Amino acid sequence: MASTRLKRMEESATIRIANIANRLNKQGADVISFSLGEPDFDTPKHICDAASKAMFDGATHYAPSMGIPELRKTIAEKLCTENRLDVTEDNILVTPGAKQAIFEIMMSVLDDNDEAILFDPAWVSYDPCVKFAGANSVWVPTDPDNGFMPEDVSEYITPKTRIIVVNSPCNPTGGVYDRDVLKQIADVAIDNDLFVLSDEIYEKIIYEREHVSIGSMDGMEERTITVNGFSKAYAMTGWRLGYACAPPEILKGLLKIHSHSVSSATTFAQYGGVAALTGDQEPVSEMVREFRTRRDILLDGLNSLGIRCKKPDGAFYAFADVSDYGTGDEVAEEMLSKAHVAVTPGSAFGESGKDFIRISYATSQSRIHEALERIESIL
Ligand SMILES: Cc1ncc(COP(=O)(O)O)c(C=O)c1O
Repeated sequence: MASTRLKRMEESATIRIANIANRLNKQGADVISFSLGEPDFDTPKHICDAASKAMFDGATHYAPSMGIPELRKTIAEKLCTENRLDVTEDNILVTPGAKQAIFEIMMSVLDDNDEAILFDPAWVSYDPCVKFAGANSVWVPTDPDNGFMPEDVSEYITPKTRIIVVNSPCNPTGGVYDRDVLKQIADVAIDNDLFVLSDEIYEKIIYEREHVSIGSMDGMEERTITVNGFSKAYAMTGWRLGYACAPPEILKGLLKIHSHSVSSATTFAQYGGVAALTGDQEPVSEMVREFRTRRDILLDGLNSLGIRCKKPDGAFYAFADVSDYGTGDEVAEEMLSKAHVAVTPGSAFGESGKDFIRISYATSQSRIHEALERIESIL
């Protein structure tokens, strides 16, 4: 029954772990989840108020496919001032989540058998989006001892390469690319006339480091498609609100897919997006402070147990090398079945993740302490 396109898609390694966790939960076990990809905070009240007011004021009809003008303008202003991109609202397409933007980009720029460059390990949905478009991913290894920075990208470029995917801060490694690394990637993109998809969804969740947008670099404005959203920074995962920023002729392609599939992002949610960007940013700072404290507790704990893990500079994930104990798949399964701690096996993110587990610290300090004790008891 399944289409050829669908058959190219593999089931994620996370599903096996989720199935065991569900079974344990049903049996009444107290499973500590270290596998969540979303902040465990509520959306700040002023954002909910703005969306709810918009809903009661009648923002319950279709929105323009590109997004409501207020939000597109606000996003463009944010990108100019915070990210140093030289853009206007004409460069902005509002999407139901960053994920939809990524899907539309792959479907718009990739032809059958084209190649997309992914840095290994990479977030779980890039490769399926590349495959949906009929293209192939080319995985570039990264160096775990050097903050998971990519190797020489130019070696992996072929006549079929169309796009390089950059994700800083990175899910799953928490790595942050500095200006020099981004400049090397930008040079490869310029020399080979490639697009760059810059997924900046974790830009605000960053510690002791500066976020740099590759689209702000010389020669990159015409070839960068910047993707961002509200899910992580404003704890708005369920709102499904994100955006793509690109030259208008690229957006025209995205819009074809967008208008014939999702039509638009939810209208009243977009008013919440305006409030998120223009309102008080203190809730974001508070959340990031809490994530940093949790990161430090988790890292100290893992290192004192002898589990090798570099301090992540961003996002809310630690990527730990568990090769002393087995593969990431084996360790994740053991941790869940014996300690009732659910983590994500690194293999879900690519071949070079197979010796790792991803630990999401989007859970309270007390649960992190408890999980560390449980892990110690099974080591
Ligand atoms: C790297 C990365 N990009 C994009 C997304 C999707 O975000 P959204 O909720 O805006 O679709 C996620 C969500 O986990 C992510 O980790």
